[in-house]
Amino acid sequence: MRVLVTGGAGFIGSHTVASLIEAGHEPVVIDNLSNARRSVMGRLAEITGTRLELHEADVRDAAAMRAIARDGLDACIHFAALKAVGESVMSPMAYYDNNVGGAIALIETLLEAGVGAFVFSSSATVYGDPETLPLAETAPIGAATNPYGWSKIMTERIIRDAQRANPEWSVSLLRYFNPVGAHPSGLIGEDPRGTPNNLMPFVAKVAGGELPRVSVFGGDYPTEDGTGVRDYVHVVDVAEGHVAALDAHAGDPGAHTYNLGAGRGHSVLELIHAFEEASGRPIPYEVVGRRPGDVAANWADVTKAEERMGWRAGRGLAEMCADAWRWQQRSR
Ligand code: NAD
Ligand code: WQD
Repeated sequence: MRVLVTGGAGFIGSHTVASLIEAGHEPVVIDNLSNARRSVMGRLAEITGTRLELHEADVRDAAAMRAIARDGLDACIHFAALKAVGESVMSPMAYYDNNVGGAIALIETLLEAGVGAFVFSSSATVYGDPETLPLAETAPIGAATNPYGWSKIMTERIIRDAQRANPEWSVSLLRYFNPVGAHPSGLIGEDPRGTPNNLMPFVAKVAGGELPRVSVFGGDYPTEDGTGVRDYVHVVDVAEGHVAALDAHAGDPGAHTYNLGAGRGHSVLELIHAFEEASGRPIPYEVVGRRPGDVAANWADVTKAEERMGWRAGRGLAEMCADAWRWQQRSR
């Protein structure tokens, strides 16, 4: 399949481009490079042996997107979005414009061009504070605590409505839990600008000596060791989830919603200790107050993805840490 990948130079997008090529698909990459580097394309060529062109464009630029969409596409995977939760509170309009406005503009162009399948990057953030665990796709959504989360809830809704109005269209809404790790080659990975907000890249920089210690946000949660529990899932597993969604549902009209997680939770301290093992470096940490907006625990019920798309996250926490550490040492 010829697959448009928006945000294809970013963290999850670049890994998905590699997985698509490995599975015999033909990705077409567009990115406005607001949170990625052009050099990723050379790294992808090294990994896959396939040289790809980067279309430097914004998904909100209808003329540019129309020109690309006319070029015989079978499907689109839409990663392009802004994703910093804290920044979304400070700049909500930028988030709604980019994430919601971007999706509307893109969907109109794709439907006009007759691109039959669409895969959307949603997030476990749509579930808010879970009432019960694990979280199945049937759990209630719509209680986001920040504009980033609302942008995902709104976009899911818009996509469902667009699908209802175009019943021949196939859409897959993939709700990622906490994607971490890096490609085993060490050539691509997560490259946050400035100090990372997320735990794994922060821990990697502490192990690498770039930051002094990890602040553990909260030691008094009702969890086994008192620290927050999340469903960390290897980014290569997440990437393969997109290939599985296309294989299962391109040509299968309807709206298909899936959790992409490992199906189990790890605490902050467990992750720190696993990273110490993987890196052979001590990781100093200090337990501080809770971070506003954080939930105590969440992890996914992944039964549906396994049953309907044959997808399962096979890579465990040790592999996630080992690959993130390789990337930390070799990156940039
Ligand atoms: P990322 O920032 O690395 O990738 C997003 C890419 O989109 C970047 O390369 C950026 O330059 C590009 N982009 C942003 N706005 C654009 C626009 N208007 N036009 C064209 N390109 C644009 O982020 P990521 O971690 O790879 O996330 C990919 C998607 O997955 C996002 O939609 C994000 O919200 C979602 N998601 C991420 C996580 C996570 O923890 N990383 C979890 C759940 C969902
Ligand atoms: C994980 C755990 C923190 C940093 C975020 C977004 C979510 C999704 C994935 C996009 C929590 C603790 C963290 C630190 C810490 N993204 N922590 N010290 O918050 O689960 O999810 O990324 O959709 O929308 O909210 O991920 O990596 O920030 O935090 O103790 O320096 O690590 O409190 O328990 P989170 P995270």
